[in-house]
Amino acid sequence: MAQRGSKSGGAPIICLVGFMGAGKTSVGKELARRLGWRFIDLDDAIEEFERASVAEIFSRTGQAAFRQSETEALHRVLETNRDRPLVLAIGGGAYVKTENREQLKQAQAQMVWLSADLDELWRRVSSQDRTVRPLLTDKHAFESLYANRLHQFDSLTYRVDTMNKSVERVASDVAEMLHLQSAEG
Ligand code: S3P
Repeated sequence: MAQRGSKSGGAPIICLVGFMGAGKTSVGKELARRLGWRFIDLDDAIEEFERASVAEIFSRTGQAAFRQSETEALHRVLETNRDRPLVLAIGGGAYVKTENREQLKQAQAQMVWLSADLDELWRRVSSQDRTVRPLLTDKHAFESLYANRLHQFDSLTYRVDTMNKSVERVASDVAEMLHLQSAEG
C-alpha cells in the first residue's frame, strides 16, 4: 500500500469515512487490532480535548464551533501520529469540509468509505441512543444529510460495502483491499 510521502517519511494512515451508522468506529478498532496499528476516533479526540461530549459541544456552542474543534483535532491527530501507523475514524460530517479533506490529502491518508444504503444506516442509528448524535433528529433530516454528502464519499477510490456484513468481515475486506497483512500472521 502507498506509504505517507517518502519526503516526510511518515507512517501509513488509513482513514475510515462514511455516514453516521456506517460502523467507522467498530471497524476501525477491529482493523487496528488486526494490523497492530494505533486506532483513533476523531470524535473521542475532540471530546478529550474539549472535556465535553459531542452533544454538549453542539448544545453549548453550536455546530460551527464543533466543526472548528473537529478541524483542530484532525490537525493535532495527524501531527502527533506522523511516526506510527494509524487507523483513524472520522465523524460523518468531517470529510465534507474542504480544509479537512486537504489535511488528509497532505498526510497521504488512504481514504476508505464504509457504505450502506440509507434505510440500513437509519435502522442502525435509530436503534442507538439518539442524544449522542445531535444531527440525528428525524429520518427526513437524515435523508437530506445523506443526499448532500453522498457525492463526497462517492468520489473516493476505496469503498467497502458494509451491508449484511459483520464488523470482522468489513475490517478484513478493508485490509484485503489495501493489501495489508494482519499482525497476527
Ligand atoms: C456527525 C457525525 C458524528 C459526530 C457528530 C456530527 C455528522 O460522528 O461527529 O455528531 O455530522 O454526521 P459519527 O459519524 O461517528 O456518528
